[in-house]
Amino acid sequence: MPGSHLAGAPVPGTGVVGRDREMAAVAAFLNAVSSGPCGLLLESAAGIGKTTVWNAGVAWAAGRSYTVLLCRPAESEATLSFAALGDLLDGVHDRALAGLPPPQRRALEVALLMADPAGSPP
Ligand SMILES: Nc1ncnc2c1ncn2[C@@H]1O[C@H](COP(=O)(O)OP(=O)(O)OP(=O)(O)O)[C@@H](O)[C@H]1O
Ligand SMILES: [Mg+2]
Repeated sequence: MPGSHLAGAPVPGTGVVGRDREMAAVAAFLNAVSSGPCGLLLESAAGIGKTTVWNAGVAWAAGRSYTVLLCRPAESEATLSFAALGDLLDGVHDRALAGLPPPQRRALEVALLMADPAGSPP
């Protein structure tokens, strides 16, 4: 987890060099997660290190034993309905479905290709 380190040096355990301000924002985001819904947007010019910072955040979250759901859809998946949803819920289908009211559970099962659609859409 983040702590004091020399500015510009790799952040311990992440391979990220520098990016102190961004990594502090990721750490603050992870601290806030337990308090309720929150979000963090990483925005920059192309190739400047967003994915690197994001990967470090994912690793930190996993290190805290958070359940981390992620998906990174590729352009080739753009025509596949709900491909990202399938990736996002990979490994937690049962948990995700169990807590839903029947109509939502049914809709999610159909979207995840776990059940055939019944009837026509409303
Ligand atoms: N802070 C950093 N420490 C170490 N390596 C870095 C850092 N920032 C970027 N890199 C390296 O630079 C390259 C580009 O970084 P990255 O893929 O994270 O950028 P990006 O902003 O996500 O790019 P894109 O806009 O194409 O999605 C990668 O090889 C990554 O390992
Ligand atoms: Mg990227």
